[in-house]
Amino acid sequence: MSLMEAPLSVVILAGGLGTRMRSKKAKVLHRAGGLTLLEHVVRASLPVAASAEDVVAVVGHQQEQVRASLGGSGIGFVEQPEQKGTGHALLMARDALAGKPGLVMALYGDCPLLRTATLARLAETQRESPAAATLITTLLERPTGYGRIVRGSGSRVAAIVEEKAATAEQKKIGEINSGIYCFRADLLWRHIVELTPNPASGELYLTDLVEILNGHGHRVEAMVVENSTELLGINTRVELADADRVLRTRKARELMLAGVTIEKPETVLVDADVQVGMDTVIEPSAQILGRTVIGENCRIGTGSIIRDSLLEDGVKVEAYTLIGTSTLEREAQVGPFARLRLENHVEAGAHIGNFVELKKTRLGAGAKSMHLAYLGDSSVGAGVNVGAGTITCNYDGRAKHQTRIGRNAFIGSNSTLVAPVEIGEGSYIAAGSVITDEVPEDTLALGRARQSMKPGWPSQRRAKEAQ
Ligand code: UD1
Ligand code: CA
Repeated sequence: MSLMEAPLSVVILAGGLGTRMRSKKAKVLHRAGGLTLLEHVVRASLPVAASAEDVVAVVGHQQEQVRASLGGSGIGFVEQPEQKGTGHALLMARDALAGKPGLVMALYGDCPLLRTATLARLAETQRESPAAATLITTLLERPTGYGRIVRGSGSRVAAIVEEKAATAEQKKIGEINSGIYCFRADLLWRHIVELTPNPASGELYLTDLVEILNGHGHRVEAMVVENSTELLGINTRVELADADRVLRTRKARELMLAGVTIEKPETVLVDADVQVGMDTVIEPSAQILGRTVIGENCRIGTGSIIRDSLLEDGVKVEAYTLIGTSTLEREAQVGPFARLRLENHVEAGAHIGNFVELKKTRLGAGAKSMHLAYLGDSSVGAGVNVGAGTITCNYDGRAKHQTRIGRNAFIGSNSTLVAPVEIGEGSYIAAGSVITDEVPEDTLALGRARQSMKPGWPSQRRAKEAQ
């Protein structure tokens, strides 16, 4: 087989803790743009490999969580039991991949801005080149912290010098190592065993492989990328915020170009997997998270936070509304200041107003709960009106109980519905009632003390006080 059609394996190094993050959590598990750093890298590299099995992540720190975070991706994993450097990490993948011919792309799990097109271009460049390896470099005005590229003759790379080992002269080099390499598999696996521990840190540096390959008379070439943004490696939380900003901007742009209006896009947070339909308007400071899907012609009010929910066409979410794991059918309206906590289903055209909380509740088509209510573990029929201050008492201190309200019932203000309880179709609950027993259909239920009156009592009292 010629190298032109050589298969390609991808190895993503993700074993380190990331000391500079100052965190107990492994660096690659930190999130930007709604996904972990590693998820971004895996997504960018999957299309350049023939199949998911050709992508391998080297895991170490918190490897259970790291593996779990990529559970559905189908990629393979190898363990790096001790974190002895980037060269050591790649060495861990040798047994799994040494038998495979073709090319090996190696990259780091802390580069979430990488684009598939750039990786594909690297693979293409290496395929067409006689070199043993090609690596992506870029020119930075402030290269501090990155490995510097020491050029040889022509387009060759002679060595990579890490910041700590660089001389004052070398520190002035603006061309840096992005940490993305494409090797000929046979030469990589033959020579990687020649890496020796760095005298200062005791680690095996993948970057030393450049000199080793040169020493054997092989060429290493650089592919210079002009837009350095996508090569950003995340080492600190400041860089994490930088990456998040770039990813949010990309997502907002993608949505705007697809017909979504975003007011002040620099203030909204939309996660990577969110889908939004045409002519929907997203007001400033809204957050749309997780796997949320929003239809066409919706409005998402300022300050609202929507997570893992489905909003059909024409849904209006007024300002400062929180929605989690819920479905809102077409033309439903919620907020301002409403909370649809979890697993709610709001049918078409239903209205939910301010200071209303729903949990595991189904609200029927056209039903209304406009002010100050708590509806938990309940089903509310179509056309029901829930008065202000209505509370479902769904918890007795031990277990949760259901409230069922039939179609077109009218629940007077400040009603207390002690679950389990059922209210029949078309029935009326008088304002201020405490309802503990089933109300059959077409019935008025009053569950409160009758009003009594004492005419003249106030003036008698005032006269007494004047004595
Ligand atoms: C590395 C490069 C540097 C380059 C920069 C680009 C080396 C020695 N240096 O430096 O030339 O400019 O990336 O961003 O390679 N990892 C492991 N196991 C380990 C150590 C690290 O899996 O034992 C993983 C980490 O999880 C991380 C990646 O390798 O995802 C890079 O490690 P990091 O410590 O961030 O390398 P840099 O110092 O940034
Ligand atoms: Ca790094």
